[in-house]
This record gives sequence, C-alpha cells and structure tokens, in this order.
Amino acid sequence: MDYKQFVADVPDFPEKGVTFRDISPLMEDGEAYSQATNDIAHYAADKGVEMICGPEARGFIVGCPVAYKLGVGFAPARKKGKLPRETVSVSYNLEYGKASLYMHKDAVKPGQKVLVVDDLMATGGTIAATIELVEKLGGIVVGTAFLIELRDLHGRDKIKDYDMFTLMQY
Ligand code: PRP
Ligand code: ADE
Repeated sequence: MDYKQFVADVPDFPEKGVTFRDISPLMEDGEAYSQATNDIAHYAADKGVEMICGPEARGFIVGCPVAYKLGVGFAPARKKGKLPRETVSVSYNLEYGKASLYMHKDAVKPGQKVLVVDDLMATGGTIAATIELVEKLGGIVVGTAFLIELRDLHGRDKIKDYDMFTLMQY
C-alpha cells in the first residue's frame, strides 16, 4: 500500500522549520490503519513478542492495535504526572523541546520480550528513552517499529543496536 497518501505534510508546525507529518488521515482510513497494523504485526510475528510498549500519545494509537492483533499486552510509557503507582523515568530531547517519560515499575516483567512501537522517529530521543525504560524494568527489546522514519534527523543512530521496521521514510 502507498501509505504516504495518508500522511498530511504540514509546514512550520508546531514551529517554523519543522514539517509535521500528520498521521491522522491514515488512522481515519479503516483499510490503511488495519493494513499498517497487520504489517507491523507481521514484522513481529517471528520475534516471540510478549509485550508491546509505546510512548504517549501516538505510540498508543499504533501500538495498541498491534498488541490486540498479536494477543499480547500493551505497556504505556507516559508523560509526567499520569501514572498513579510507583514509576521509573527517563528524560530526553525532542525535535522541538524536552520531555520525560515514565512507566509503572511492574509494567514489564524481567526477561519479557518487548516490541517498542511509535508512530514516527525523528531525532530518536523518544524511542531511545522508551527502550531505556523497558530495559530498566528488565525487559528485552526484540525490535522497534514505526509508521514513519525522518531520515535526515539520524534517529536510527541512537538505536543502532536494535532491529527496526518502518513503513515510510522521508
Ligand atoms: C512525537 C512522535 C514521537 C516523537 C518523535 O511525539 O509521536 O513519539 O515525537 O520524536 P523524536 O524521535 O525526536 O523523539 P510527541 O512528543 O510530539 O507527543 P504526542 O505523541 O503526544 O503527540
Ligand atoms: N514528532 C517529532 N517530529 C515530528 C514531525 N516532524 N512530524 C510529526 N511528528 C513529529
């Protein structure tokens, strides 16, 4: 499928110089959303994945249907102040700003095989932070999957020890 027809390119959002790759048209098209989910699930099929982990918020949109398709759980990595129980946290830089991510301490069990999923990789800060959280909990990251990779930002260099699957590259 030509997934790029379902991505809206928005210049200068959220700030000047950034071209925002908006995946909402893809999510709003049942066939494209379902096919993208199936493609990621297919990538994960032979990896023995036991848990999907994805960062708030768009990582949930991509990761949860993959978890459902594979019949495994989903462990969210959330922004500050959202999780009610004991957490681990990691701070990181974004293409446009700074942030922290948190996971519940018992979200991933030691030795569990985890696929880390997000909608888009830009600088790689978010995915590197999510991987770090999973590993702090003792999880084993068996792969990473994205709808979109922004190649110019070289995010892949931050996670070069991990297998990576992407549906679109810009
Ligand atoms: C966006 C996107 C990725 C991240 C990619 O999330 O969904 O998670 O940025 O950027 P990076 O590779 O430079 O870290 P954002 O923090 O804007 O949050 P949202 O999903 O809640 O919109
Ligand atoms: N997250 C970080 N950079 C982004 C971009 N250029 N488009 C959409 N989401 C993003």
